[in-house]
Amino acid sequence: MVKPKIVPSMLSSDFANLAAEADRMLRYGADWLHMDIMDGFVSFVPNLTIGAPVIESLRKHTDAYLDCHLMVTNPLDYVEPLGKAGASGFTFHVEAAKENWQELIQRIKSKGMRPGVALKPGTPIEEVHPLLEAKDPVEMVLVMTVHPGFGGQKFLPEMMDKIRALRKKYPSLDIEVDGGLGPSTIDLASSAGANCIVAGSSVFGASYPAEVISKLRKSVLDAQAGSKK
Ligand code: DX5
Ligand code: ZN
Repeated sequence: MVKPKIVPSMLSSDFANLAAEADRMLRYGADWLHMDIMDGFVSFVPNLTIGAPVIESLRKHTDAYLDCHLMVTNPLDYVEPLGKAGASGFTFHVEAAKENWQELIQRIKSKGMRPGVALKPGTPIEEVHPLLEAKDPVEMVLVMTVHPGFGGQKFLPEMMDKIRALRKKYPSLDIEVDGGLGPSTIDLASSAGANCIVAGSSVFGASYPAEVISKLRKSVLDAQAGSKK
């Protein structure tokens, strides 16, 4: 069974206190930290966030797994700097890597990072199949459940079909969901088969973030226990 991973999205944190925010989330039970890297190219994502220098600074303060989600037009340009900065996972968008995903995966691995692929809500799940069946495959799929760009958007339940299809075909794959996850939507994602749960506003906006983190984990564990019966 794939392990549940609860992954607070640092996009909802206080960027001016990033190291303290990261520590706090780890103390509350986070498994990984989700780092949203956006380049602001409106054709791809209408927001600009952080890059390798911020990852490098954070890395000096923590050993945590830094789960980097690249919403950028040319992910290849980020492999070298993010590898040097100490990123752990490098998840690029399939829409931005049509021509060079093989090279990208190889380069990500050669820099000691774990390759993942993400897809936008409008992209069919079949588009990631070749990347999972390649000689050098991606090791995680991130299914976006909002349109990329901002925290705090409404969860798109229609995306659950993608997760179900993926889980059926790849029982031991890490499947991450990102966007609009919290106590009221988690059961849909976990019962569809997601095991890595990104949550920004629902965790950072809660009075007791540790409770939200443990609720999210319990939902994944319960769904997994239920699907074994
Ligand atoms: C959106 C980002 C998400 C975002 C999720 O483009 O990829 O990681 O921070 O935030 P919430 O959980 O608030 O939807
Ligand atoms: Zn993200």
